[in-house]
Amino acid sequence: MLSKPDEDFTGGESVFVEQRPRQQPRPMVARPGQGQAVIFPVRHRPKQGTRGYHRVQMRHGVSAVHTGDRHVLGIIFHNAR
Ligand SMILES: [Fe+2]
Repeated sequence: MLSKPDEDFTGGESVFVEQRPRQQPRPMVARPGQGQAVIFPVRHRPKQGTRGYHRVQMRHGVSAVHTGDRHVLGIIFHNAR
């Protein structure tokens, strides 16, 4: 996060949504401060179930910025084959 939340901008929370089979999606909200970073999966994450780990689909996005400007630096680690 390059900007200062609540000073440079309001709104603009980082939102992550876990897709769960036969259940409501579960959103998670992160509000990193200036200089802080969030590491997150852009597509799947491993989740432990009763029969070991399985893939859970993850979505990510940003809630509406209400005032000001929100600047972030994104670094994508792409596992290309
Ligand atoms: Fe993205």
